[in-house]
Amino acid sequence: MSKISWKPGTMLFPLPPVMVTCGTMEKPNVLTIAWTGIVNSEPPLTYISVRPSRFSHAIIAENKEFCINLVNLPLAKACDYCGVKSGAKTDKFKDMNLELEACSQIKAPQLKASPVTLECKVLDSDKLDTHEMFLAEIVNVNIDDKYVEEDNRLAVEKMGLVAFAHGRYYTLGRDLGGFGFSVDKTKENKTKPRKSKFMEILKIEEQLKEGTLKIKDKKPSLKKALAEKKATAAKHNKRSRKHFLQIDRRRHTKKRTPQTSSSQSNNK
Ligand SMILES: Cc1cc2nc3c(=O)[nH]c(=O)nc-3n(C[C@H](O)[C@H](O)[C@H](O)COP(=O)(O)O)c2cc1C
Repeated sequence: MSKISWKPGTMLFPLPPVMVTCGTMEKPNVLTIAWTGIVNSEPPLTYISVRPSRFSHAIIAENKEFCINLVNLPLAKACDYCGVKSGAKTDKFKDMNLELEACSQIKAPQLKASPVTLECKVLDSDKLDTHEMFLAEIVNVNIDDKYVEEDNRLAVEKMGLVAFAHGRYYTLGRDLGGFGFSVDKTKENKTKPRKSKFMEILKIEEQLKEGTLKIKDKKPSLKKALAEKKATAAKHNKRSRKHFLQIDRRRHTKKRTPQTSSSQSNNK
């Protein structure tokens, strides 16, 4: 095995593609950012690097705040769209049916559909050659309560988070163990990793919409059965939607059809 030398480049991946909302509830904008990360723990500090040519750049530079919205599978298409279209020319919220919610510590809005949002206040900025880097403090975090378990554990494996690597989007892969698993021999780390059925559920939902799902028997349609079960679940608030979908999948599906591949962009 030998390594081939490539020219220097931004080949650090996977990265989280995030949707950064800025402006105000009345005059908002959103753009996709991959150049982001954490740079300090206490206080929690993050950064985003934005090209001055972006419509959002002037808004962030002026308002000195923004909201980082993590992206999961249902948001993936909107994430890509908001990374190729400019708020100077179109209303991306309207185009992608994105609902906004007020943040508690900043004027910039958050995306309702995002599983985790970070409210950020700009502390400093640095004009680099191609981008301006905004260093910001994370002043509040909002989590969709459907991902917080009864014991307060954050069920990241249920979120269906998206990663961005070398110009393509991916879902997260297998759970390999918790922080310190290499030395930690506790029961938690010996047991099977948490498996996410998120992709399977989405495929089933897609097939239901398209009407391509094959149902074995002559029982009432799966769509109707699912709707009934979902309604019961919501009413009693006892069992998760995921659980019902899994049960119904096992009962009614014969086979799944392959999903279409995700779109690609390298326009950072
Ligand atoms: C996956 C992805 C990641 C991106 N990352 C960045 C980034 O880190 N910085 C940046 O300035 N633009 C980035 N872009 C491009 C902007 O999101 C894009 O130019 C967008 O249309 C700007 O929107 P605006 O003009 O409404 O601000 C990225 C685009 C995609 C699709």
